[in-house]
Amino acid sequence: MSKVAFFFVMLVNLYTVTLSSQIKPPTLVIAVLIRNKAHTLPYFLTLLEKINYPKDRISLWLRSDHNIDNSIELLKLWVEDVHDQYHSIKTNFVEDKSYSDETGPTHWSSSRYDNVISLREEALNYARTIWADYLLAIDADVFLTDSNVLQELMLKDFVIVAPLLQSVGLYSNFWGAMTNEYYYERSENYEPILYRKDKGCFNVPMVHSCVLINLQKLPSDHLSYVPQKIKNYDGPRDDIIAFSLSANKSGVTLNLCNEKVYGFIMVPLDDSDHLEYDSLQLLNLKLEVLVEQEPLPVNAIFQPFITLPPKDSLGFDKIYMINLLRRSDRRLRMNFCFDELGLEVTTVDAVDGKLLSGKDIENITFLPNYADPYHKRAMTLGEVGCFLSHYNIWKEVVQNGYEIVFVMEDDVRFEPFFRAKVERVMEELAVIGDWDLVYFGRKRLQEKDEPLIAGTEMLVKVGYSYWTLGYVLSLRGAHKLLAAQPLSNLLPVDEYLPILFDKHPNDQWKKYFPNRNLIAFSSTPLLLYPTHYTGEDGYISDTEDSRVINEPSPVRSDL
Ligand SMILES: *[C@@H]1O[C@H](CO)[C@@H](O)[C@H](O)[C@H]1NC(C)=O
Ligand SMILES: *[C@@H]1O[C@H](CO)[C@@H](O)[C@H](O)[C@H]1NC(C)=O
Repeated sequence: MSKVAFFFVMLVNLYTVTLSSQIKPPTLVIAVLIRNKAHTLPYFLTLLEKINYPKDRISLWLRSDHNIDNSIELLKLWVEDVHDQYHSIKTNFVEDKSYSDETGPTHWSSSRYDNVISLREEALNYARTIWADYLLAIDADVFLTDSNVLQELMLKDFVIVAPLLQSVGLYSNFWGAMTNEYYYERSENYEPILYRKDKGCFNVPMVHSCVLINLQKLPSDHLSYVPQKIKNYDGPRDDIIAFSLSANKSGVTLNLCNEKVYGFIMVPLDDSDHLEYDSLQLLNLKLEVLVEQEPLPVNAIFQPFITLPPKDSLGFDKIYMINLLRRSDRRLRMNFCFDELGLEVTTVDAVDGKLLSGKDIENITFLPNYADPYHKRAMTLGEVGCFLSHYNIWKEVVQNGYEIVFVMEDDVRFEPFFRAKVERVMEELAVIGDWDLVYFGRKRLQEKDEPLIAGTEMLVKVGYSYWTLGYVLSLRGAHKLLAAQPLSNLLPVDEYLPILFDKHPNDQWKKYFPNRNLIAFSSTPLLLYPTHYTGEDGYISDTEDSRVINEPSPVRSDL
């Protein structure tokens, strides 16, 4: 590099550094409307505190009214705790409990629409009045788990931008299309954007619930939530539709960015929902968040308001979780899940294939000519350990005479409304009576139809399947699994089960187990899924990455 060029680069660097250190970050109003959100507020507000943005550049604008829960109490507590940190906090908490024209707290009556419209407009005008550079209009059932979200969205340089928020199911904070009457319409690119098959920022007809508006940009002056203020408005009396049309009519695009999942959002309750449904939704969402990251944080001031459900074993004699001691990360995550779900679970230390010696398996005979169908290799020590872990539980079931147990591994995610669904499956099983094993989580290997069991809505006869993520086992089932003496012809446990219920395609292997009379079903839908699928980021299999028994390896000398 020439001296001149070097000098020039230095100058540019100096200029950039000076700029970034001398210019204050833009000022920001964060506006939140809160109604009956006592259950989400501890998480919402804690995540708000964790947003990586200088608090002395933020003015908070909080409104809460028409509550039948203690939302206002929590808000006051929090404001008192944090008010020193923010540039300002403007609140208006109104103590009325309901609107005169509503049928219940989830009903969207006319006066509720009017109130929400005027509050949103008030927030927008407040931000304009104090010359704020940005307004973040956010609802209290949005959880911004990515703390850099604001800085990243500001860099996008749009007038209106929203971060992708996911939910349990297909709900989100944007629309892919809009009908001629300005209502929601599913677009072809909706799921690719939601599930981030397509990544970037997308011009969409609607963003809501968490929207960043750049008030420094001139066209933002035309934005409004009030239908009457919008020229030629022919849409419904609805705050977000009015806002979206005001943008469109002013040539302002609505943008949704999904380079990351920036957070999560709850599905809003509609007229037919009960408020309690929200708590179940929150539970599902917390479990969803847990799969990817830490549990949702809470500021200590909210601890007294967080209650976990009482624990039981869901009607089973015992619930077992198989966990390798060295996978304490998984154990921790599962224990958070059990606390949230109210499950009393016995953790069983898995037999660790990595620690198995020749002596440990001296009495085991492997199934002659067993080879893994995909890798064409013999069993790994991990698979041996996994089999023994399940086997030991079957023995314990028989020794204690447990009638029904539920066995799961430690890398599962729970289907939404897990408890209620398990209860329904178990009611149906009680009616059928004659069963040995029911999969709650598995990998279906045959495309053939698995018809519903007559008289049930949640049970199918199970075909050839892999995995032992979770299953319910009866005492009779445990007897059958032991009686077939699998340790004399060992193969992986997820091959063994299909052999015993006689749906295994390999006739050679089946010959070693003449009594294939296990009566097995599967729940439908499945109630457990793996946290990570093979090949995905973060996937570590404890059975497939370990040493193979018959391959030359350090362990050969032990065998
Ligand atoms: C406004 O809506 C029309 C019709 O959907 C669309 O074609 C146009 O691109 C929109 N304008 C902006 C700025 O998004
Ligand atoms: C193998 O079987 C023998 C004889 O029954 C027994 O003494 C020994 O403890 C068994 N080994 C293991 C590892 O279970």
